[in-house]
Amino acid sequence: MLIARTLPDLRDACARLRRSTDTLALVPTMGALHEGHRTLVRTGVAAGAAVAASIFVNPLQFGANEDLSRYPRDEEGDLAALEAEGCALAWLPDVQTMYPTGEATTIVVTGPAERWEGDARPGHFRGVATVCAKLFGQVRPDFAYFGEKDWQQLQVVKRMVADLLLPLSIVGVGTVRESDGLAMSSRNRFLTAEERARAPALYAVLRSMAGALAAGEAVANVLAKAADELSQRGFGIDYLALVEGAGLAPIDTLQPDARLIAAARLGSVRLLDNTGI
Ligand code: PAF
Repeated sequence: MLIARTLPDLRDACARLRRSTDTLALVPTMGALHEGHRTLVRTGVAAGAAVAASIFVNPLQFGANEDLSRYPRDEEGDLAALEAEGCALAWLPDVQTMYPTGEATTIVVTGPAERWEGDARPGHFRGVATVCAKLFGQVRPDFAYFGEKDWQQLQVVKRMVADLLLPLSIVGVGTVRESDGLAMSSRNRFLTAEERARAPALYAVLRSMAGALAAGEAVANVLAKAADELSQRGFGIDYLALVEGAGLAPIDTLQPDARLIAAARLGSVRLLDNTGI
């Protein structure tokens, strides 16, 4: 696996890969890699692409009250995991490379970036869109892989790529779960044992909501019952909604691309999850 830490090294590495592959794919990450990230790399490799993975903890997507320094880091473990999955290139830029002194450009997405995480974490999607645009410009992949676990992020990146006419395709990959249904996330490590035992209820409730909606139960009833159940199980609900899959606008009747999305807190940990119906 090639490792690049500077832009000249990245250019050389990409040129080298391009000599032996028609398809370059990028998996953008912030490190602390788990099975979800590994699945993204594996999916790209299985599709026949040379896969580059970036590891960059992006300060621009953290709010003032969010602890950037608490974000888990494990470069050695991450590089070993990428290598084991057949990743061709690891891109590890520093903050100065990504945000050169005097930089004055960021990307603000409206539409799918409004509401939900957009409300809960002001500026978050500006950070995500900006860093992804930079990573796409640096690596110039044909495809970039994102987990469906962060459904809204996936829609925001797709919207930005379409709107800015960027020459790559965004591929969403299904959420990877623990055997009890909990969506894999770097934040899960911060759950206490007691919270970890309760955490799978979030996805269980989403699935039972999907069942009730598919059976024709009214959206408002399904949402109200589920919110009650999650509160009783000790979750602090930030949002629980039925939305249009791509635009994320709330809907009150079922439609083919409808998505249930949720953000709920257990102790200090904010869990995100979603499901189709
Ligand atoms: O999902 C993440 O890990 C980050 O938001 C991403 C896409 C790597 C951008 O920093």
